[in-house]
Amino acid sequence: MVCYTQLWLSILQFQLSLSSTICSFFEKKKQFKLFSPLNTNRNTIISKTLSWLLRHAALRENLNVSPDGFVDINEVLQHKRLKKISCTPEDVREVVATNSKQRFTLRDRQGTLEICANQGHSFPVDNLELIPVMPYEFDYVIHGTYLKNWDSIRVYGLKRMKRNHIHFSSGLPSDKNIKSGIRFDAEIYIYIDINKALLSGLNFFRSVNGVVLSSGNEDGIIETKYFLKVVNASNGSHLTFP
Ligand SMILES: *[C@@H]1O[C@H](CO)[C@@H](O)[C@H](O)[C@H]1NC(C)=O
Ligand SMILES: *[C@@H]1O[C@H](CO)[C@@H](O)[C@H](O)[C@H]1NC(C)=O
Repeated sequence: MVCYTQLWLSILQFQLSLSSTICSFFEKKKQFKLFSPLNTNRNTIISKTLSWLLRHAALRENLNVSPDGFVDINEVLQHKRLKKISCTPEDVREVVATNSKQRFTLRDRQGTLEICANQGHSFPVDNLELIPVMPYEFDYVIHGTYLKNWDSIRVYGLKRMKRNHIHFSSGLPSDKNIKSGIRFDAEIYIYIDINKALLSGLNFFRSVNGVVLSSGNEDGIIETKYFLKVVNASNGSHLTFP
């Protein structure tokens, strides 16, 4: 009898400890879900989708884009990619506020919340609050790119391709004031003599997030004669060009 009771007690104990282990496992999982990269991932998805939609796909996805590049947030949220993840205006506000590259601007227009991408559109937008750069505002600007593009750039110069503008920053990614305009994984830095280019008639602009943009000459090119120097990002050695 004593023996049975003991056996029963130890089974009960075992069950209790098993169930508390299971509980704490789920408890941990729940915490993981609340604090972990999962929320960040969701924001990343929203940010990437907004970027794709507002910079490239708005017209072919039939969104109404104002001439200065803004779209009604309700229209944006109706897009299937954002609807699928039940994206709300609050999610968008959070993504805009926490985006370290300040990629988007929100504005309230007569009670309608509108959003636009700050630069990098592949369709024409006017008046994106681009401020013309004057001669001698900068000593140089830098375009970051990859080794795979160098063979073409060293011969033909920088091309804007299908974009409206070629992007530059006023410093290297290691400068804490530089938040955008240059890719952090760039392999090559091309320093542009912006004053020489401005004085020979090319236009440069600053966007609201400090990126310097230029659409190049009439062929959309910044020729190599405006290159000050080209530097290997990993070891600082100079690359030559004709
Ligand atoms: C830059 O330097 C690194 C290290 O020496 C080298 O591996 C790489 O190929 C160089 N890149 C270019 C574009 O010259
Ligand atoms: C940097 O890397 C390039 C390509 O590998 C090499 O030719 C050059 O000598 C290196 N320069 C320095 C300063 O290490």
